[in-house]
Amino acid sequence: MTELIHSIEKWQALRHTFHPHDSVGFVPTMGNLHQGHASLLSLAKVQNNISVLSIFVNPTQFNDPQDLQKYPRTLEDDLKMATALGIDYVICPHADELYPDDYHYQVHETTISHLLEGVSRPGHFTGMLTVVLKLLLLVKATRAYFGEKDYQQLQLVKGMVKAFFIETEIIACPTIRETTALAMSSRNRRLNEAERTLADCFAKGMLQCQSTDSLKDFLQQHNIPFDYVEIWQNRLLAAVQIGNIRLIDNVEIS
Ligand code: PAF
Repeated sequence: MTELIHSIEKWQALRHTFHPHDSVGFVPTMGNLHQGHASLLSLAKVQNNISVLSIFVNPTQFNDPQDLQKYPRTLEDDLKMATALGIDYVICPHADELYPDDYHYQVHETTISHLLEGVSRPGHFTGMLTVVLKLLLLVKATRAYFGEKDYQQLQLVKGMVKAFFIETEIIACPTIRETTALAMSSRNRRLNEAERTLADCFAKGMLQCQSTDSLKDFLQQHNIPFDYVEIWQNRLLAAVQIGNIRLIDNVEIS
């Protein structure tokens, strides 16, 4: 039976009842779950004897208020997925409980958070790292699962866990793609038909091109505006703008 918990105090009391030998698998999300999330949740379930999902649309990581407002909230459907996958606990905290400090305490990373996504989304990674730290401290997971789709986020979380001696193993999970190759993302649901065709084309370019020059040429040929196309840590990473929607993707360079 999946148990939904809104109160942080209630969660903390419950967490104290876990046995020290219990292994806890944790998947932090902002909800609007899709098959990409399902793959993380399934792995958390298989590798641990207790599975925990958090759903929290974190306001501090949105640098565009419109984006925060439009972020789809689909709790009922998300709970159906969690139940179908046999997840034990879904934590869904209120912002004022998760930020009792009014966001006066923040985690600032000073180097890689300023690259790539960090250039166009000031404050995004500070908000993300701050909320992930709070969640990791609350859940005290054995393992926490993050998708490689948000590759820069994954590297920042790994770095934070190491820097602050957090005893949770960060498990990197491969990007799950639609049959068209488009990387699964909650944002895909906001694309109209024409935009979806362009998004699929972007994904094909990601898988075909092995250099920044060839991907830039590809995007220009298909009239897909891009924010960046870069190689970092042996990966080709790109952000494109399709209508009002910003999409990111990355692939390993072979
Ligand atoms: O990747 C996400 O959905 C979010 O950045 C996360 C890790 C849940 C933090 O809010």
